[in-house]
Amino acid sequence: MKITLLPGDGIGPEIVTATVKVMDAAAKKFGFALEYDHQLLGGCAIDAYNDPYPEVTQKSAKAADAVLLGAVGGPKWDNVDPSIRPEKGLLRIRKDLGLYCNLRPMKVSKFTAHLSPLKPERVENTDLLIVRELTGGIYFGTHNEAAMVDGVETASDVDLYTRPEVERIARKAFEAAKVRRGKVTSVDKANVLAESRMWRRIVTEMQAKEYPEIELNHLYVDNCAMQLVLNPGQFDVVLTNNIFGDILSDEASVLGGSIGLLPSASLGDGTGLYEPIHGSAPDIAGQGIANPTGTILSAAMLFRYSLDQQAAADAVEAAVDKVYEAGYRTADLFGEGMTKVNTQEMGELVAKALLEA
Ligand code: NAI
Ligand code: MG
Repeated sequence: MKITLLPGDGIGPEIVTATVKVMDAAAKKFGFALEYDHQLLGGCAIDAYNDPYPEVTQKSAKAADAVLLGAVGGPKWDNVDPSIRPEKGLLRIRKDLGLYCNLRPMKVSKFTAHLSPLKPERVENTDLLIVRELTGGIYFGTHNEAAMVDGVETASDVDLYTRPEVERIARKAFEAAKVRRGKVTSVDKANVLAESRMWRRIVTEMQAKEYPEIELNHLYVDNCAMQLVLNPGQFDVVLTNNIFGDILSDEASVLGGSIGLLPSASLGDGTGLYEPIHGSAPDIAGQGIANPTGTILSAAMLFRYSLDQQAAADAVEAAVDKVYEAGYRTADLFGEGMTKVNTQEMGELVAKALLEA
């Protein structure tokens, strides 16, 4: 199976190198072969090609079964022409691969629940998956920049979805719920927005016709924001549009207390893209101390959603848990009674735990 590796900038190369150790261990244990193609995306690609998403990277990504990305960007490229900024590379690859579905799992491990800004007992049983629509809605509707209209400065953005866009993202949520705890919470603002009223109607119809075994409820986004803090354990799959998903996934990401732990997947109908939720952390780049866990768990998602290797995905997640249970921590999570390890040691420990399981 072909994997395009895009280590990117900052800590990206370090965390991807550590993660490849785990992927290789999983491939060995479960008897499949991985073929890696290293390419450039982001600032490093601007340096080499004057283009954050060069053609060789495009070709490689499109031909791959999946793409694993570290992170892009950093102060070095703050002053480049805005049309070729590192982040443009990310936007372009997402668009190029047609990645309309963003998956953000938030599982609070009992070994890190004490780091949460909430009381540990409130977050301990949190295991939710946010399914965010990624290529439609208000971020992609017509943007009418500020201009004088009837003598008053006015700006607007159009919040638009079509039925097929809603159906395909809802389908991803229902399918995900099938292999989880069988519950979907669809989040909207149907009391105010026409877009939301159509969204709610379509999701309700699909559940009745195609997914009667899935439990479906609806929440207004403001209430959902509150419930995420009050009782995050109530959620299984949270389905929502682009803008609400952007905000709610950032809110959910802090529940566990560290951004270094969280993976993500972006899916379309072809190649999927997997990356940790954090950025390139220029403040600690090159020191070998970054936490690779979010990237390792992204690789687990890659096995699950792009390679159909469920056992390997479960085994990677279990191996991470085992290493945390044994008290190993990178600098960001280090504390009393723990054993401090660097980025590569964390990758090696997870690989070893996986092979020994
Ligand atoms: P960041 O996520 O890179 O860093 C925020 C803080 O968390 C920093 O103190 C950093 O050291 C720490 N941190 C992040 N990941 C860590 C890890 N794996 N282990 C230990 N500590 C970690 O966000 P920031 O500083 O806002 O952005 C830095 C650069 O990354 C910017 O150029 C930004 O545009 C880019 N960025 C890229 C993203 C991507 O590639 N998907 C996403 C977010 C930001
Ligand atoms: Mg965001």
